[in-house]
Amino acid sequence: MTTPMIAGLSLASTWLSGSAWRRADSQAERHHDVDLYVGLAQRAERACLDFVFRPDTVFLDPLSQAQGPGTSALDPTLLLTCVARATQHIGVVTTMSTSFQDPFHIARSLASLQTISAGRVAWNLVTGLEGQGNFGHRPFLEASERYRQAEESLQVVQALLRSYPADALRLDRDSGLYADTQAIRPIDHQGKYFQVQGPLTLPAGRFGRVPIFQAGASADGQSFAARFADAVFAAAPTLAVASELRTGLRQLAAQAGRSPQDVRVLPGLSLYLASTRAEAQDLFEQAHTHLDRPQRLAKLASILGIAVDGLPNDRRLGPEDFAAPTQPVRSRTHAELLLRRIASDRPTLETLLALPEVVSSAHWQVIGTPADVIEQVLAWRAADAIDGFIALPGGSLGSLALFLDQVVPTLQAAGALKTAYHDVGLGRVINQSPCN
Ligand SMILES: Cc1cc2nc3c(=O)[nH]c(=O)nc-3n(C[C@H](O)[C@H](O)[C@H](O)COP(=O)(O)O)c2cc1C
Repeated sequence: MTTPMIAGLSLASTWLSGSAWRRADSQAERHHDVDLYVGLAQRAERACLDFVFRPDTVFLDPLSQAQGPGTSALDPTLLLTCVARATQHIGVVTTMSTSFQDPFHIARSLASLQTISAGRVAWNLVTGLEGQGNFGHRPFLEASERYRQAEESLQVVQALLRSYPADALRLDRDSGLYADTQAIRPIDHQGKYFQVQGPLTLPAGRFGRVPIFQAGASADGQSFAARFADAVFAAAPTLAVASELRTGLRQLAAQAGRSPQDVRVLPGLSLYLASTRAEAQDLFEQAHTHLDRPQRLAKLASILGIAVDGLPNDRRLGPEDFAAPTQPVRSRTHAELLLRRIASDRPTLETLLALPEVVSSAHWQVIGTPADVIEQVLAWRAADAIDGFIALPGGSLGSLALFLDQVVPTLQAAGALKTAYHDVGLGRVINQSPCN
């Protein structure tokens, strides 16, 4: 309880999601303007957050662009490179997919950003949601096998990051020896999914290990996280889900020979904030006006992987109303969380189609005032359900400002967040240099 938590800010333009981009003050014109994100990261650094985080996907539905920015986004590693150049302390967590990106490219990007940021990079390792049509040379494996591929990819990336150690550099002008070639070694990896000779094309390792973030929370995802992740970006709509996930991951980590506290649970914290609850509720509703009933039904069907045409309108629903998936789901984590919510709430169809898990996300959701968020964060922390969180400000940039200007300082005053860049947990792994 005395150790501050770890807090990150998502730079994923969540404040433009749904219909929120239509607000006069949304700055939607700047969605692809790197200076917007650099400015936000600088504000997050002034607030002493541990890291900024950029999730990413590699697919775009052209029709989605009629209604909002959707999955359209700058490349996360290029964006965070600009952020790293304009900040000194804050961690930069970039996303790359083991299903679509080759380990060599991943390792090279990480080593480059690690060097450019002087040791502040972490890798959000995703197995991907969709986008296989853009990567024709490699099949998109079924969900469990994607984790086996991810394991091999991670092994190769880590071997490549060790293959040209920074201390191999000699720069001995007198003798003319630039680097110790004995220390630079090919990795000669011959695996099921990847064949990679190595070594990496630049020295790495001067700043230590690159921490790993991970998100999928199916049984396979949890097993992966427990063995390899430093932090889990968790979809946890309730305290019970977060608590169960954290307890389970800590047990699995111990079974895998790790210290339980090595895997930190950082739920996404979706925030619709205003100075009154009524205004916050308006913000949330305004942000979700874009989805009509057929679109909500289509979202429900896509999350669960089934047709939902015949659902009754006149009674409460339970898991028994939903057949097993007939098509692969994008994310088993999201399907399982939604079914869990249906089992606990037994919603009518109308209520179901208004749930955040259907219309926006399965994240921890606070629609209210800064005091409401503070109360919930302190309660989840007191219940030992979290090691921190990743803030996802929604509805407006004002929501983000309230988070940085009011929520963070109060949590700091309560000892729940750090006030300087020289301490604990993942902060120690990511932030190598103190800020004061
Ligand atoms: C909270 C959360 C965030 C995710 N973020 C991303 C992302 O940014 N990019 C991506 O390609 N996949 C993302 N994923 C998908 C996961 O990497 C994974 O591929 C998917 O959830 C399937 O794994 P599962 O079977 O364990 O759910 C995310 C999943 C979750 C639960």
